[in-house]
Amino acid sequence: MEKFEWNHWHPLILSKKLGKKPIPISILSEEVVAFRDKYNQAHVFKNQCPHRRMRLSEGKILEDGIVCPYHGWRIFDNGKCYQPSTKKEVSHNLHFEVKEEYETIWIRKPNAKTEFPKFELQDYKKIHFQENIIQAPLEIVLDNFTETEHTSSVHAFLGYGENELPNVNVQLTTTEISVQLYNEGKQKPIPWIIRYFLKLQKNDVFIDDWITYFSPIYCVYNQYWLDSKNKSERYDKLRIYVFFVPVNENITRIFVYTFMKYKLTGNFGFNIFVKPAMTWIVEKEVSLDKNIIEKIQDKNISLKGTKLTHFDKALGVNRSKIQKVYCGLS
Ligand code: FES
Ligand SMILES: [Fe+2]
Repeated sequence: MEKFEWNHWHPLILSKKLGKKPIPISILSEEVVAFRDKYNQAHVFKNQCPHRRMRLSEGKILEDGIVCPYHGWRIFDNGKCYQPSTKKEVSHNLHFEVKEEYETIWIRKPNAKTEFPKFELQDYKKIHFQENIIQAPLEIVLDNFTETEHTSSVHAFLGYGENELPNVNVQLTTTEISVQLYNEGKQKPIPWIIRYFLKLQKNDVFIDDWITYFSPIYCVYNQYWLDSKNKSERYDKLRIYVFFVPVNENITRIFVYTFMKYKLTGNFGFNIFVKPAMTWIVEKEVSLDKNIIEKIQDKNISLKGTKLTHFDKALGVNRSKIQKVYCGLS
């Protein structure tokens, strides 16, 4: 837990996947073990017994701790462990601070001074939460999620057509802690059934406006449409939170939280039609991203020698914020 990055609240696993059985999970090049006690409270420890480094995930759950399967040491959440061979208690520093929010288990180094990411969801309804593993370094994954040039060739529904790309307006705004990218251009053609669900017209303008934060690293996307003639906003909007968590230097886990502002059908129609349709669309689009990112031939995170376009404005500044805010380097 020495790395600076442990200070940030990272999503670790979706709540529904965590039960009473201990699960080993790799994050930030280390292995942790997550489990629930009999009160359903989630606990996360470093997955290594302080005695002789056995995997605790092979052990059994206690009321507020876990028993190592090798020599039976009891590891408790209060920072103590009990050694049956000496009947003594010694201290350990294996436990993480844990929060369960947004149907997810989050962890950070105990008592770190960081803010928990707050979702702003007034008028938005939950569509779908998912996690995915992508075989690529953090920077390479974030590159994909912070440019819209690829939406023309990679994405099925949301984005801009190839002919429209030169006209897409891309605006970058940065602060000490964030990078904002605003994209505006004509929505690429989409099947009428999806247009119908989203209540869009053929020539609508698609806005993809997001802010990236770096403690932890996540993007908040505001995706919506404008009437091409009078530029008025359509009511239906997507708000998507995507968190980027390094598993190690070559693998990244992402957590995608999709919400939507939706009129007309009421709760019944929303749950029966809109939710499954939008879930399918988001799962499809994320799998297309994953697929293309993993095929990149050279996943070196350096931008040296790459030929960037006006869509890639965020890539360099993302890297410096990762260094500064996320890794705590100056
Ligand atoms: S290695 Fe865990 S009790 Fe010995
Ligand atoms: Fe994408």
